[in-house]
Amino acid sequence: MPTNTAQQVFKATLIHAPVLGEIQISEQALISVDEKGVITSVLETGDQAYSTLHVEAETEGRLNCLPEGQYLLPGLVDLHVHAPQWPMVGKALHLPLYEWLEKHTFPLEARYADTDFAKEVYESLVETLLANGTTTAVYFGTIHNPANQALAEICLKRGQRAFVGKVAMDDEEQCPEYYRDVSAVEAVKQTRELIDYIVSMPGNEEGLVRPIITPRFIPSCTDELLHGLGHLASETCCHVQTHCSESDWEHSYVLERCGKTDTDVLNEFGLLGRRTILAHSNHVTDQDCATIKVAGAGVAHCPLSNFYFANAVFPLRAALEKEMHVGLGTDISAGPSPSIFDSCRQAISASRLLEDGVDQRRSAGERGRENSRIDFRHAFWLATAGGGEVLDLPVGKFEAGYHFDAIAIDVKASTSPIAVWNGLDQTADVAQKIIYGATRANVARVWVNGGERGKPK
Ligand code: GUN
Ligand code: FE
Repeated sequence: MPTNTAQQVFKATLIHAPVLGEIQISEQALISVDEKGVITSVLETGDQAYSTLHVEAETEGRLNCLPEGQYLLPGLVDLHVHAPQWPMVGKALHLPLYEWLEKHTFPLEARYADTDFAKEVYESLVETLLANGTTTAVYFGTIHNPANQALAEICLKRGQRAFVGKVAMDDEEQCPEYYRDVSAVEAVKQTRELIDYIVSMPGNEEGLVRPIITPRFIPSCTDELLHGLGHLASETCCHVQTHCSESDWEHSYVLERCGKTDTDVLNEFGLLGRRTILAHSNHVTDQDCATIKVAGAGVAHCPLSNFYFANAVFPLRAALEKEMHVGLGTDISAGPSPSIFDSCRQAISASRLLEDGVDQRRSAGERGRENSRIDFRHAFWLATAGGGEVLDLPVGKFEAGYHFDAIAIDVKASTSPIAVWNGLDQTADVAQKIIYGATRANVARVWVNGGERGKPK
């Protein structure tokens, strides 16, 4: 096969999870990446073409070797981030969801009428997420398009793969007058305008940043708005994101108003498709799961946020066994951490609590829900390949045809909490230690689409 001289070649020990439940390790593999940022081959040391490619790439000065102590992982996928809530991270989480929205979230989000304020926040957020290893992020914006446009531009400028949505919310009873769309018609019109703006941003020809249709959640939207956005989704084939059956209050509210579950309502309005991301989905029924599976929609599991607002644990293991699409979300700021590595840990912990149960006054046999635990292997898959699958994007694996979105994890970083012991730890142990321990301090380098992104601090 003739070698394309424009191709970069990365030499590194790879840790990835292309198959649910398995971690694959390739010591000192060679990854070739074309000028569009797409992986063209992954060669292992035993492969026939390995030495030829190694020599050629080295001679031609296009071999990038990761130093000892650094490991190459797929970039992390965060399926659920509220960009405007970044200044609120770590605040007000003692309140229930409804009060949190009313007293803190809506007043803060209303401030994004000020585009300069929005730019300041969004620069800080995108920089922080990239520095934590998030190469793909799915953002809720606010109702204000100038601020949403600024967020899309910042993602493009900083080179983060992203989805950016104008939050649509028009219900007069559930949304305060100072922060709601003036009408369903206007909300649909502005959603369409943001879609047009993002797809035609100069420099975005490859679609690094994409629009996403974003009804906040059913309680904040009138039927007319949900109907209009459903039409827009089928017309544009854009992704869709919303909150689904998050808490007792929210799930019951929808049952009362609509006489059906969130999933059924979204389905009826044409908002449940292959490119729909349902945040939370903690209270979905078995029938809802079947509907979600048939639609090919995905769940953004947000374990940390769920501890605060959900009133129950998402049955993650059951969802995976049903072969639903699932990935992870931070849900900033209901989840007060910008790290998807944290989400991995919390997903594991939540699943263990669900399996064992939590009330020690109950006997062991009736305390939990059997066969509910996941482990570090599932968590890492969710954070990478699972997220890519939800988005219907070729990211999250080191395979030919996938985008080269990757992070170098340095276990020897000066402030690393990870301790690796020579003679005791094999690479498989290091992989576990990274999933259980990695922080921003360990994220040494970040690439999106083959290009290196601002050096994380
Ligand atoms: N439901 C409606 N809006 C929100 C939000 O901003 N965060 C969470 N976690 N749930 C919501
Ligand atoms: Fe959310």
